[in-house]
Amino acid sequence: MVTEIFKVDKDSYDILKKAAALVRSGELVAIPTETVYGLGANAFDKNACLNIFKAKGRPGDNPLIVHIARPEDAEKIAYTNPLYYKLADKLMPGPLTIILPKKDVIPSEVTAGLDSVAIRCPVHPVASALIEMAGVPIAAPSANSSGKPSPTTANHVFDDMAGKIPLILDGGVCDVGVESTVIKITENEIILLRPGAVTLEMLKEFCENVSVAGAVKEELKAGEKPLSPGMKYKHYAPRADLYLIDDKYIDFVEFTKEKQKSENCAIMCYDEEIKLLENKNLLPVGNRDDIKNQTKQLFILLREADKMGVDTIYAHLPNDEGESLAIYNRMIRACAHRIIK
Ligand code: TXA
Ligand code: MG
Repeated sequence: MVTEIFKVDKDSYDILKKAAALVRSGELVAIPTETVYGLGANAFDKNACLNIFKAKGRPGDNPLIVHIARPEDAEKIAYTNPLYYKLADKLMPGPLTIILPKKDVIPSEVTAGLDSVAIRCPVHPVASALIEMAGVPIAAPSANSSGKPSPTTANHVFDDMAGKIPLILDGGVCDVGVESTVIKITENEIILLRPGAVTLEMLKEFCENVSVAGAVKEELKAGEKPLSPGMKYKHYAPRADLYLIDDKYIDFVEFTKEKQKSENCAIMCYDEEIKLLENKNLLPVGNRDDIKNQTKQLFILLREADKMGVDTIYAHLPNDEGESLAIYNRMIRACAHRIIK
């Protein structure tokens, strides 16, 4: 199959029309969103959704997120509650996914047999326009091959999906850079399953009872059943061994300078550290305090490290609070316990 890439914005009517027709006819289309690129299919079409799993090499027990054009469109596919609308009112459209009890119109293949469905209303104008034009909700996981970092540019998608899907909509670099915040809610409870740009602190404004699933800060213990199937898979793994350095205990520059002499390594450093290190395989993540930019760069740099062909990558152990929790969560799972204190 030939994979076409088109640059788009919300006014690219002809291309969006073509993409919407492909979705309606059961094909897969890669879509830019504000978080990461998604691999979309008609959420009502069981076979189209099964093809998502095939194209990604995704295990069949890991459910998909269903994308809608307006928060109230959730009514068609799920049983909502007042807390949903309280959250939607302030945070949707945006980088938030809410898990609710599902209605029968969503095939069980989409939710991997679960009786709940994950719902997201993206704010990206291209994603939003496409869902609207397709006239159906769009099921879309991140558009990477399973186990690779999520794609945040159309070229990342092409690297993983060329020959497997007919169309990639190129909407430029994703604003946020990591996947949406995923929460499961009841009328009076929020459980954070995956941290993202909508932070724990923000969620606490909507509900007194907010908890964090264990797998957010730690890897699952052997035999533990995760609240979200996606938590049990090794994610975001670069080919090289990633080490996280806790700079509360270790001088990052001194440590990595030595490694640069003896190892084929890449260094994910803060911009302030560039001039202190040897100019070799540096992957600057942005200024120390600029968490937004660090988030946006994260998957771009992990993919770049793979292309460099290094054996090891050294990076700062991120803070596990506020906006930085999303980076912490991804890095912890990419490093396979290699934390240096
Ligand atoms: O930002 C995003 O969320 C992107 C864009 C494309 O919207 N999508 C994305 O999808 O990251 P995916 O499939 O890569 O991650 C979805 C996560 C998985 O960890 C999955 O296990 C979890 O959400 N999930 C989906 N439905 C669920 C459900 N019903 N119950 C629990 N977890 C669910
Ligand atoms: Mg994913």
